[in-house]
Amino acid sequence: MVAERVRCRGLQDRICSADAAASLIKDGMTLGMSGFTRAGEAKAVPMALAERARTEPLKITLMTGASLGNDLDKTLAEAHVLARRMPFQAAPYLRNAINKGEVMFIDHHLSETVEHLRTRQLGPVDIAVIEAVAITEQGGIVPTTSVGNSASFAILADKVIVEINLSQPQALEGLHDIYIPTRRPAREPIPVVAPESRIGLPYIPIDPDKIAAIVLTEKHDSSSTVLPPDADTRAIAGHLAEFMGHEVRHGRLPETLQPFQVGIGTIANAVMTGFIDTPFHNLTMYSEVLQDSTFDLFDAGKLDFASGSSITLSAARYQEVLPKLPDYKSRLVLRPQEISNHPEVIRRLGIICVNTALEFDIYGNVNSTHVGGTKMMNGIGGSGDFARNGFMSIFVTKSIAKGGNISSVVPMVSHVDHTEHDVDILVTEQGLADLRGLAPRERAETILARCVHPSYRDAMADYMARATARGGHTPHVIEEALSWHARLRETGHMLDGAAA
Ligand code: COA
Repeated sequence: MVAERVRCRGLQDRICSADAAASLIKDGMTLGMSGFTRAGEAKAVPMALAERARTEPLKITLMTGASLGNDLDKTLAEAHVLARRMPFQAAPYLRNAINKGEVMFIDHHLSETVEHLRTRQLGPVDIAVIEAVAITEQGGIVPTTSVGNSASFAILADKVIVEINLSQPQALEGLHDIYIPTRRPAREPIPVVAPESRIGLPYIPIDPDKIAAIVLTEKHDSSSTVLPPDADTRAIAGHLAEFMGHEVRHGRLPETLQPFQVGIGTIANAVMTGFIDTPFHNLTMYSEVLQDSTFDLFDAGKLDFASGSSITLSAARYQEVLPKLPDYKSRLVLRPQEISNHPEVIRRLGIICVNTALEFDIYGNVNSTHVGGTKMMNGIGGSGDFARNGFMSIFVTKSIAKGGNISSVVPMVSHVDHTEHDVDILVTEQGLADLRGLAPRERAETILARCVHPSYRDAMADYMARATARGGHTPHVIEEALSWHARLRETGHMLDGAAA
């Protein structure tokens, strides 16, 4: 079994315990670790690090692809191992530590981290810790359920620790397409011309001498936390499907639409699942995270091909999909996140991008990261890579949050991740606002009419009337623009006199 997984001669001698491998990591080092949206993270070495931090001072900078499963971010933050963390996380415990200022979190566009490392604007990476299904005869590392930043971490690091996960199916081998862009400014075009383009190698090519330790593990990926569709997310999916039909009827999209990117989370997953009940067919995805909805669409015969950087599934879908991987394999590819999220490729392929907002404002600015303008939720992830460069940039959210105490449509967002210039379509369960070609005053009218929850409509109309009376290209009552957020903080509800 192990010989099939560690095929490079001589490397079997480097198999050791997680504790021994973790002892290579010293206080103050920068670690580049595999893991993207709870998929394919190194599992044993970070646990050993957290254990070691109980008895000796140990603080590191941790870079990953995106969020980690198996409560690793929580365990590492509880053990005070994390001095700095980038480029994305989604763990409540770590989120609190970040918001208390205990962990310095750098919220990066996911396509950019390794570009900065490569050009030494960040870094260097001392050690890469990469989960793999196998090491090839030549010493190439075959990742598991995610590629994320693993390839560049392994290539750029001084030393590499490989965790061979024996529970990850060997059928994963052949799924990956590892391509590293050439150096700038003389970079060649990235030759992805369709979601199914294969442009690289099925393993991460590194000098096997850099592999300092190999650890055997059997721990599974954590399942995703997405919730099943509800009435609101079904309504959002319905509005979007109707809109796509409208675009097809007007000749702006073919019936196969254009490749889709769909963001993380419950709402985005539900939206994609909603396409099962539409006339659209032969769909493709050029996305980042492949969630349950990808496989629901495959099984429904709606989806032809999906390109991503990770596969993150619910517990039930994980049990079904992984054993059937050989059946799906010819229709799937996993790429480094700088390629799945590359602006050049996103622009070339004309991606329809669907991401989730925490809140948006009457002019179409979107906040995806900061609750109340100050508290980090997860991070911008890849939403900016896609929103800025897509064929059509769509943001979805429920119109209210926390039982109606919060309106997700506000006079002015309390933090801006995606400016009005990057946002074409906004959708809540109330309706869809098509902002293309509209000036700010027209945008505000459309958003008010289509997206705002009825319990906030009068207050919003009143604000807009008073703002418009003051004039301006983008009218605001500037001293009042964040008053809904201030009131929420003071009274627990965004509207005057509405607190329970
Ligand atoms: N103010 C405060 N809290 C809000 C809110 C608002 N305006 N809108 C939603 N929330 C809360 C919800 O109540 C929920 O809280 P809970 O976890 O305590 O129940 C939480 O935010 C998540 O909201 P939910 O409606 O379940 O949406 P989601 O699971 O789809 O996540 C984001 C939404 C924005 C947090 C998530 O999509 C994200 O992190 N996006 C940024 C990264 C990204 O877009 N990546 C895409 C490229 S793959």
